[in-house]
Amino acid sequence: MTTEQRTKPKWTWWVMVVLAGLIGIYGVGFAFGGAEAFYEGRDLPLGLDVSIVALSFHAVVGGLALLTGPFQFLERIRTARPKLHRGLGRLHVAAALGTGLSGFFVAGFAEGGLTGRLGFAALGALTTTCGLVGLRLALGRRFDDHRVWMMRSFALLLAAVSLRLQIPALFALLDGDETMVFAVVGWSCWVPNLLVVEWMIRRRPAPVIVV
Ligand code: HEM
Repeated sequence: MTTEQRTKPKWTWWVMVVLAGLIGIYGVGFAFGGAEAFYEGRDLPLGLDVSIVALSFHAVVGGLALLTGPFQFLERIRTARPKLHRGLGRLHVAAALGTGLSGFFVAGFAEGGLTGRLGFAALGALTTTCGLVGLRLALGRRFDDHRVWMMRSFALLLAAVSLRLQIPALFALLDGDETMVFAVVGWSCWVPNLLVVEWMIRRRPAPVIVV
């Protein structure tokens, strides 16, 4: 593979940018009144105000994590603009950790009953763990391992995209049973992502990602 080929993003990267970009913008925009409407009529153990603040924070940091993540995988930026990679990386990791932690928190009163809540909580815990491990490896200058863990972290963040792609199909398949839909999607939005990214990581000896 020539240098030119290696530095050109693949079409899969562009698909990822568009999907992550659209849901990322939705997440940031959700902070402007979205949570009030989302929780309307819901029985919230911590009350409406705390839940709205938690979900709005979650949506904004989730949006930022999705908007910043794809650029971190571009070899062109990593090698030619290392300061930009580091600056954007700091913002991305902070947003990813905020997303994982706040996702874990709002999972406690999510739709989907216990099954759905456990799925979302596992997603939150894993996203936080991958972000922390990735950050630690970058600080320890173990950049190959850092890239692998950030791939895992971003695959988990992309659950926000998978979930929104799966929900219409699940509603049709499960006759509109909302609790069942969220019980299933609490797991199906991230387990396949993790399997695919593990396959991508293992398929080559050197962790070259989507570029
Ligand atoms: C990866 C870890 C994530 C976890 C564990 C997680 C978990 C959750 C949970 C449990 C809910 C509430 C569902 C309910 O009450 O029924 C939720 C809602 C939401 N999340 Fe996340 N999420 C994650 C990532 C993201 C990302 C990356 C975004 C970026 C846009 C995002 C944006 C939102 C938004 C906007 C809502 C409320 C409205 C809606 O569902 O459309 N989340 N999330």
